[in-house]
Amino acid sequence: MDKLIVANLKMNLDKEQILNYKKVIENNPIQNLIICPPDIYLDMMISDEYNVCAQDAYYMDEGAYTGEISFLQLKELGVNYSLVGHSERRKLFNETNEVTALKIDASIRNKITPILCIGENLKERESNKTLEIIKDEIEDALSKNIPNDLIIAYEPVWAIGTGNTATLDDIKTSHSYIKSFMKDTYKKDVKVLYGGSVTLSNIYEIMNLDEVDGVLIGGASKDPNNLIDMYNKIKKS
Ligand code: PGA
Repeated sequence: MDKLIVANLKMNLDKEQILNYKKVIENNPIQNLIICPPDIYLDMMISDEYNVCAQDAYYMDEGAYTGEISFLQLKELGVNYSLVGHSERRKLFNETNEVTALKIDASIRNKITPILCIGENLKERESNKTLEIIKDEIEDALSKNIPNDLIIAYEPVWAIGTGNTATLDDIKTSHSYIKSFMKDTYKKDVKVLYGGSVTLSNIYEIMNLDEVDGVLIGGASKDPNNLIDMYNKIKKS
């Protein structure tokens, strides 16, 4: 199983729970695992058994930006990945495509692999605009120089944290579109992850799709034992 599993812990878990999370995962290693803890725990979560990933960072390298942390600081800490443009950043913190683009540039400049999150909302889906939105979000976020290791996470906004997952056909269609768009436009073969209510009961079928290079798991990754159960379900595939 060489597909990626990305666990987005969001703003969850206290210090004791985080240290327990680390211990549980280190005792039951998961192949190709990337964990995104809250920033304040990044340092203590660094491990040889998995990679750590920031959930966001600011696009300037340093300066008077109270409350922010930079990709430069992440790199110095030993962090090699960052989510960029997660729908919760876009929706709750008004992050625009322009800001997402600046963050992608900053991550590339600091040699942090960006996991660019894209996906349509319910209204856009109902008006059959899914592929158009995907294309616009990719084009707006990326300049011509993109790294070979760029990862894209297709996360339909209506599926995040709702218990509603996209159908396997929808996932196949969107992922194939993203892959061919990236190949045609940027001459890159990118990994495309699926995110949005991935759970123990649907991970196997989603991970088994050829078009899916991994999953981005939110709520279901909060409990490390559940994450291990999910991995055990797919590891032989
Ligand atoms: P979810 O979150 O698995 O809870 O839907 C996914 C995400 O926000 O990346």
